Amino acid sequence: MTFPKMTRIARYRHGALGASDHSGRYHEPGLARHWSTIDCSMTAKHLLIVAHAPSPNTEAMRDAVLRGARDEDIDGVEVRAVAPLAAVADDVLWAHAIILGTSENFGYMSGALKDFFDRIYYPCLERTPGLPYAMYIRAGNDGTGARRSIERIVGGLRWRSVHEPVMCVGPFAPSCCQACHTLGMTIAAGLEAEIFGLRH
Ligand SMILES: Cc1cc2nc3c(=O)[nH]c(=O)nc-3n(C[C@H](O)[C@H](O)[C@H](O)COP(=O)(O)O)c2cc1C
Repeated sequence: MTFPKMTRIARYRHGALGASDHSGRYHEPGLARHWSTIDCSMTAKHLLIVAHAPSPNTEAMRDAVLRGARDEDIDGVEVRAVAPLAAVADDVLWAHAIILGTSENFGYMSGALKDFFDRIYYPCLERTPGLPYAMYIRAGNDGTGARRSIERIVGGLRWRSVHEPVMCVGPFAPSCCQACHTLGMTIAAGLEAEIFGLRH
């Protein structure tokens, strides 16, 4: 996917607001609001990464997503990465888009990501329809069980896929991190360019 070269409107907004420090830390929990009610013409966009990283390879994939999302050419997008067991419904309500990362465990998403969904599902069900999401999966085999299990739950939440799942299967290869880097950059750039059709 390619994006038109951005105007500097986003840079202007970012500078004018001075709200995003690109640290990935969310400093104003009291301001967490329903994502679809935020006036996107006035605020930074928020990208949430909820990634289970139980091994060096999955840590490298999560870090590649983060690096891509925080690319220096992308303006006005605040990125926050949270482990699934630490993520809460307010994190999701804060987000304008979400990237989910997991290993495949026993033919399913990781228990940690499942626990995340168990806790956020009902608090978010009526408040995040249409939330743009993407996922990446690390699996020794084919990863389809993990993918299906996530698709089933986000289908219930009525989240909207905006990127083909990144499947890193079989032996680990550098291309896994490259694909994750591209994923993070693509979703962040899409938020910057407002191509996901955020409601105003
Ligand atoms: C308890 C457990 C269950 C697993 N189940 C599956 C599985 O069902 N399918 C699969 O492809 N890989 C499975 N794996 C492999 C993990 O997906 C893989 O080790 C993990 O993504 C980390 O990748 P890495 O070994 O490259 O660091 C399992 C690993 C563990 C520890």
